[in-house]
Amino acid sequence: MRLAKLAESLADSATLRLNATAARLKAEGEPVIHLGGGEPESPAPAAAVRAARELLDKGTVKYTATPGIPMLRQTIASQVEQEFGRPTKQAEVLVTAGAKPAIYAALVAVLDPGDEVVFPSPFWVSYPEMVRLAGGVPVPVTAVDGGFEPRIEDIEAALTDRTRMMILNSPNNPSGAVYSEGLVAAVVELCERRGLFLLADEIYRRLVFDGRTAPGALCYSRESGDEGRVILVDGVSKMFGMTGFRVGWAVASRRVIEVMGNIIGQTMSCASAVGQVAALAALREESSYVEELRRDLQGRRDLLVRELATIPGVRLTPPAGTFYSMPDFSAIAPASEPLSAFLLQHTRVVTVPGKDFGCEGHLRISYCGPAADVVEGIRRIRWALDQSSPQEIEFGGRVHVRDWDAPV
Ligand SMILES: Cc1ncc(COP(=O)(O)O)c(C=O)c1O
Repeated sequence: MRLAKLAESLADSATLRLNATAARLKAEGEPVIHLGGGEPESPAPAAAVRAARELLDKGTVKYTATPGIPMLRQTIASQVEQEFGRPTKQAEVLVTAGAKPAIYAALVAVLDPGDEVVFPSPFWVSYPEMVRLAGGVPVPVTAVDGGFEPRIEDIEAALTDRTRMMILNSPNNPSGAVYSEGLVAAVVELCERRGLFLLADEIYRRLVFDGRTAPGALCYSRESGDEGRVILVDGVSKMFGMTGFRVGWAVASRRVIEVMGNIIGQTMSCASAVGQVAALAALREESSYVEELRRDLQGRRDLLVRELATIPGVRLTPPAGTFYSMPDFSAIAPASEPLSAFLLQHTRVVTVPGKDFGCEGHLRISYCGPAADVVEGIRRIRWALDQSSPQEIEFGGRVHVRDWDAPV
């Protein structure tokens, strides 16, 4: 059967694939520890569940307006105005079925075939594939010092006549890095000077640790109203633990939102009405939920940092936000895919290969699950990789013996 070449060339989502593998192994009774996840384990905020239930009880669940229910758009606009100090109107907000369609619609709205999109590496796995699907060319920029924040000179050097857009994702999936104010301000200035759109994916914006805050791109923009080139992407998936409700949004100039709305209208109609009323309730009534989640994650981040430090050869830049970390295993095994497969086979711990995020030699390890899983998962990884640890380990009700010298 012949399908479109572009569609056939798309990679499947590594993280969704691993979720499926973990679920299958668990269903088979295997003692799986999932350190590859991408969503908080906590249930959705009570007010969100209540609002969804009330709408379902009425039984009248219909299409909403394509850009979203007015009250939700207005609430998002007011919160953006408050947080970033920029006047924002309802017409500058588009609600979508999760943040993913907002990103995709922004790319389709901006790119002509062959246009380039520049973004720092490591990057979220979906950016390159979505850019390609929208007809563009992804251009990742790696930090020269091997860290997680590239220099503005290196970003600028990656721009060509074909560059139309930059993506900045801070706090960052997969590294957990929160880009410095200097970098965010410089990227906004660069985009405005060169006439580029800036897609600021700030979906982990409030999940930041140690009293820090994440500098938001909109704060540094000197363009406003219809001239604005920043496209802010956000949603309730991560900060409110509401991934399954599928509600995200974009905030941008009226013109960009109008065109993105046409793209969504012709392809997806609108986000689910149930999800939208739930998101509205979360935004209006549940700000303490985010703070509790943030505090919880910071505790688990501390645990992870402490436990990983006990594995010789593993180097970690402690994450400043999100619920991901990107430890460097290259001193133990240079190729992340075989290492991740090895760990799954021998320890039943799920990790995501760094290769998928443009960061070979690293594994993405999440700490959004239970604290006990973080400790147990790292205990098993240490046993598998550290030859000086006891040769036997017990998990899943039986004793396992390490019978290899090197992992791969
Ligand atoms: C950086 C980033 N942006 C966007 C998304 C997509 O969010 P949603 O589930 O709301 O589509 C994710 C999800 O993993 C993400 O990590």
